Amino acid sequence: MPNVVVIGAQWGDEGKGRIVDLISEKVDIIVRYQGGNNAGHTIVIGDEKVVLHHLPSGILREDKLSVIGNGVVVDPKVLLQEIIELESAGYSANENNLKISDRAHVIMPYHREIDMARESMNGKGKIGTTGRGIGPVYEDKAARRGIKFADLIDPDSLSARLKDVLEERNSYLTKVLGGNPLNFEEIFQEYVQYGRELKRFSCDVSTLLNKSISNGQNILFEGAQGALLDIDFGTYPYVTSSSSGSGGASIGTGVSPTKIDTVLGISKAYTTRVGEGPFPTEISGELGEELRQAGGEFGATTGRSRRCGWFDAFALKYAAQINGISWLAVTKLDVLSGFKKINVCIGYRYKGQQLTSFPSNNQVLKDIEPIYLEMEGWKEDISEAKELSELPIQARKYLEKLEETTGVPIYTVSLGPSREKIIFLNEIFS
Ligand code: GDP
Ligand code: IMO
Ligand code: MG
Repeated sequence: MPNVVVIGAQWGDEGKGRIVDLISEKVDIIVRYQGGNNAGHTIVIGDEKVVLHHLPSGILREDKLSVIGNGVVVDPKVLLQEIIELESAGYSANENNLKISDRAHVIMPYHREIDMARESMNGKGKIGTTGRGIGPVYEDKAARRGIKFADLIDPDSLSARLKDVLEERNSYLTKVLGGNPLNFEEIFQEYVQYGRELKRFSCDVSTLLNKSISNGQNILFEGAQGALLDIDFGTYPYVTSSSSGSGGASIGTGVSPTKIDTVLGISKAYTTRVGEGPFPTEISGELGEELRQAGGEFGATTGRSRRCGWFDAFALKYAAQINGISWLAVTKLDVLSGFKKINVCIGYRYKGQQLTSFPSNNQVLKDIEPIYLEMEGWKEDISEAKELSELPIQARKYLEKLEETTGVPIYTVSLGPSREKIIFLNEIFS
């Protein structure tokens, strides 16, 4: 059975949680490899809705092992709360079905403070972050002043690391950002307790995963955010601070690329983006609002309105190239029912010239003119369809066009948020 990386192929919120929950049935282990609680992955089972920020979307299947890799940044307070909420919803995260890498970095209170202070200072130039401290914690990791999960669960290490780091971070917070200093003793007492509560999950994740692969088990690597929010290949600086593409799966777990078999990209049948930054196919005005309402496009983490636009095949082709996307899961096709005309962006024109590659310059991306192919829409409610042949001809033609313009075959089409509302067109787990 293959080891599969699942990534968002757009700007996040493509329905990764929904797809991972479903296909986690076919794997042994589900591992998150980057990002933190900036993610919000929604899973709907019957009338019940669970939103996961830290925990892998396999956690609702108790017989599967869920793992948080070294590339993830963990907010212990939020994680503990999430575990409690999961338990009150009738599920369980315990030391048998959840492991956390001892190398994962820990989100500390000053990371959140710095994130929020910067965003409010930046005014027009702000990124529109989730305010969860994600940029500052990855910054500290790269600057070699981070606190790892291994430190969190060892009081002596936590004390030593926090002492080293806090003085410098307080000086930055107060002198540069005009904030208030944080108190060592208060943070230490609070976090040492989180460490005690979370210690039971600590694990050498690379060894665990490599051994499991040797024993014939298969792994699903669950990406957060999306290809166009990747720190290297996204619309920088309007990106997140981790490698959200498929390459991040190796770095963020300690499983080499040679052990990864395939990459599944998740994409909405249209596009959304939350936060600032260029968005070539964004639809303004009433039509954009209509799409937002039809798709319920409000953030699972911050509740912000998501910006809505047409499917961008040119951007998706770029995402496919970088990440080796070999299959596509198209979600929310049901949301397009009732739209008379549906556009697909097949290229970008800049100063009269058609571009041959996705621009790295944001100014260019802001000024490009999308080249659209107009498709006929359909009126029917398609959410109950069980087979491709039950879809209106216009919907089938639309899906064919997505395959043709992105060059990626479709593995599955989702027609609703809950488990059963899905049609599989191909098989990748054989
Ligand atoms: P993720 O971050 O990629 O996991 O996506 P989010 O959970 O943030 O956002 C996706 C939203 O779309 C959630 O509210 C899902 O319940 C919902 N959703 C997923 N697939 C479908 C679908 O096929 N149709 C509809 N109508 N909703 C869907
Ligand atoms: P999931 O996993 C959509 C966006 C933020 C902001 C930028 C940087 O649910 O798809 P950050 O807090 O990471 O420093 O914010 O990235 N962003 C997301 N957008 N879905 C997400 O996660 C996101 N995580 C971060 O809105 O524009
Ligand atoms: Mg989300």
